[in-house]
Amino acid sequence: MRKKIVAGNWKMNKTLQEGVALASELNDALKVETVKCDVVICVPATHIVSVVNSVSADKIGVGAQNSADKVSGAYTGEISAAMVKSTGAGYVILGHSERRAYYGETDAILKTKTDLALENGLTPIFCIGEVLEERQSEKHFDVVKSQIVNGLFHLSADDFKKVVLAYEPVWAIGTGVTASKEQAQEMHAFIRTVLAEKYGQDVAQEISILYGGSCNPKNAAELFANPDVDGGLIGGAALKVEDFMAIIKAW
Ligand code: PGA
Repeated sequence: MRKKIVAGNWKMNKTLQEGVALASELNDALKVETVKCDVVICVPATHIVSVVNSVSADKIGVGAQNSADKVSGAYTGEISAAMVKSTGAGYVILGHSERRAYYGETDAILKTKTDLALENGLTPIFCIGEVLEERQSEKHFDVVKSQIVNGLFHLSADDFKKVVLAYEPVWAIGTGVTASKEQAQEMHAFIRTVLAEKYGQDVAQEISILYGGSCNPKNAAELFANPDVDGGLIGGAALKVEDFMAIIKAW
């Protein structure tokens, strides 16, 4: 059975104190619930150590939202995959559309970031997804396929199995417009076909593919009911424990 995962992406929100309070509240909520999925929170880099220390590792996985495409050295402001790993984090979001769009992250850069994340024992949550214009011109399948091929298909099957994918249509991120359950299933099934062509059906069936983009307590259950949707990458709704818990409990 594929791993079911609900991962929060806090983006650039919350001070350290607010973040620790949010993580602790989530940890408390999870102590009294039996949940059917893995729970991960990807927090600002400044918060990782404190958040790792305020949650139970068996309840909540902690991740970064980015890591560098360089090993170490004179790269002011960058944080390496080894540094992320040394905080106690287990995950790193790579290739989020905001990083691709605002910080010039190309497929080639993401390929290197993925290698470094894997070499350092982090689980990459690798994001892919088309912008509105690409969907309207029916290029969305090609765009998503090329992001996967160029960013990940250099990996061996063994390494590829360590990656979590997140399909996030850019037009759905932070907009309140969610992909319909049919649109999500159609793309997730397509992605699995692309993976099967390269790595075979067994590997394709093992990879968790999360949906992201305005996923909320109201639509989570119907999105997660799709056979190829294995969870969610949650932005806005991950900032409120009540909403995030409702999404977790949608499993
Ligand atoms: P959203 O963000 O849930 O606020 O749309 C999702 C994401 O960007 O990962």
